[in-house]
Amino acid sequence: MCGIFGYVGEPVDLGRSLTTALKTLEYRGYDSWGIAVGHDQRILVEKEVGRLNGSVPSFPHSSIGFGHTRWATHGGVTKANAHPHLDGSGRIAVVHNGIIENYQVLKAELKDRGRQFRSETDSEVVAHLIQEEIAGGHDLTAAVARTFDRLTGLNAVIAMDVGTGEMVAVKNVSPLIAGVGCHGVTIASDTLALRPHANRVIYLDDHHLIKLTRDGISLYERETLKELMPRYTPLDRSNRDADLGSYPHFMMKEIAEQPGVLSRLATTGVDSAIALAAAIEGSELTVMTGCGSAGYAAMSGSYLLSSLAGRFVPAFVGSEFKYHRRLLSPNALVIALSQSGETADLIEAMMLARSGGARLGALVNVEHSTLDRMVDLTFALRAGPEQCVLATKSYLAKLAALTMTAYVLIGEVAQGQRLVGRAADAIAEMLASTLPQQVSDLAAVVVKHNHMFVIGRGLAFPTALEAALKIKEASYIHAEAFAGGELKHGVIALVTDGTPCLVFAPADETRADVVSGATELKSRGAFIIGVSPDPDPVFDAHLAVPEAGAAAPMVNAVPAQLLAYQLALLRGNNPDRPRNLAKSVTVK
Ligand code: G6P
Repeated sequence: MCGIFGYVGEPVDLGRSLTTALKTLEYRGYDSWGIAVGHDQRILVEKEVGRLNGSVPSFPHSSIGFGHTRWATHGGVTKANAHPHLDGSGRIAVVHNGIIENYQVLKAELKDRGRQFRSETDSEVVAHLIQEEIAGGHDLTAAVARTFDRLTGLNAVIAMDVGTGEMVAVKNVSPLIAGVGCHGVTIASDTLALRPHANRVIYLDDHHLIKLTRDGISLYERETLKELMPRYTPLDRSNRDADLGSYPHFMMKEIAEQPGVLSRLATTGVDSAIALAAAIEGSELTVMTGCGSAGYAAMSGSYLLSSLAGRFVPAFVGSEFKYHRRLLSPNALVIALSQSGETADLIEAMMLARSGGARLGALVNVEHSTLDRMVDLTFALRAGPEQCVLATKSYLAKLAALTMTAYVLIGEVAQGQRLVGRAADAIAEMLASTLPQQVSDLAAVVVKHNHMFVIGRGLAFPTALEAALKIKEASYIHAEAFAGGELKHGVIALVTDGTPCLVFAPADETRADVVSGATELKSRGAFIIGVSPDPDPVFDAHLAVPEAGAAAPMVNAVPAQLLAYQLALLRGNNPDRPRNLAKSVTVK
């Protein structure tokens, strides 16, 4: 969601560098964009609804400016609502990420004092409040700190004062990272945007405030404005895994990277799996939580830990976690699963878990993310940047990490490593086989339908949920997943002639029951697509997958990912940027 990039330094063509930076943040999802550049004591602004189309807005060279990609929450997708927002004097510009929960009260007060609003956003109140603080005699740093204190919610704000050439940033949960390079200082919501400009970075803390000027960076305690020594982290500037290469879409590239991700984890993940298993063993209760695909990975982990290791580790959707807060105690372990490490509902759940005294663990892909920095124990997934909005390689990495952890718990770490390694080889073979073509032929049949169903049992039930999610996100076809045993309790009423039904039938204890369910579906006219090591007469189409035992959730996810990808293409959708969805869901 909303991407932010700001620069203060030697005068440069900011139109070009700000749009280039915003392009690298595109993957987060947005529906409008804007840029503000300081020039001659004035702020020049360019905003547009829709995507950055490659043309570069022309601005005079400047030493200060920022850009923003907006994912609308408060106020429609209009040019007026796009950021940056200016104060009444035109001297202060503001970009914001998050939701200001008390903006209506603040806006009413500002209106009573005669302030005129140009947008319907919550964000614009920040510009006016800062202007009032400055008029009251405060400098930008104090004005931003005082204004931010009045906001409720999870927010990141950057304000620029063209009069003084300063930029001041502050945040609560919503991420901001400042960078230092040879030509100037920068700030962004993601290190990807900082790479061309910075060689070391500061991950901004919630209690801090940062000021960027042509002289560099100053860090302050937010409450007291006492100056602090910044702690720098070197920034890996290589573009490793960040480019599309020869792939048409990031989705396909990231699907293809999965064997590498799994085989790496099979070796490098052992220490983390041992540490996580020890934490689970040392807790009275362990629960897992995640959102979207990460939530399904958690659910899959719950099945794996109970079926392999006899451990009851329930999984809750991130936004539902709070309703189970009475389970929390100092003897509880809460494990969050997340690609980005920034999902607002998940971070909120972990803050609650922390306040309930629980120990915190995380399976997370993005190093130094908010989640990574807040937990006691991180299992780094190291799947590389995932830029398609739809999670693929990070999903499989989470499954691999939990599978290995389950094997550690039963004292069979080497077996767990072998299993994940074999899954990596099996997926590489599947991707090099005729499977992608078969899936593509099948997609041509499925695409004619507006509804489809996906069933699985046991370990394959979370796989079915994840498969349906992938198909929905990529193709906008209504795909619904059910536990195979639930068919007769309502689902079957929805099946008519030709309804595509994806059936996961691994060679395990669920096979006979799920095939029997498929037979009932077929008797109502369903078109059965079996995902299974062996064919079965009930399958109208068979997508053969290798027999993978406890690694079946990893292997079985791949045909579903390919099907979602092909359906997106056939429907004319960009699988990397599905409508209305964002990669990093930093608002609740
Ligand atoms: C968004 C993405 C999903 C992802 C979910 C959780 O909804 O579109 O693909 O699974 O967020 O994201 P996280 O970064 O916490 O794994």
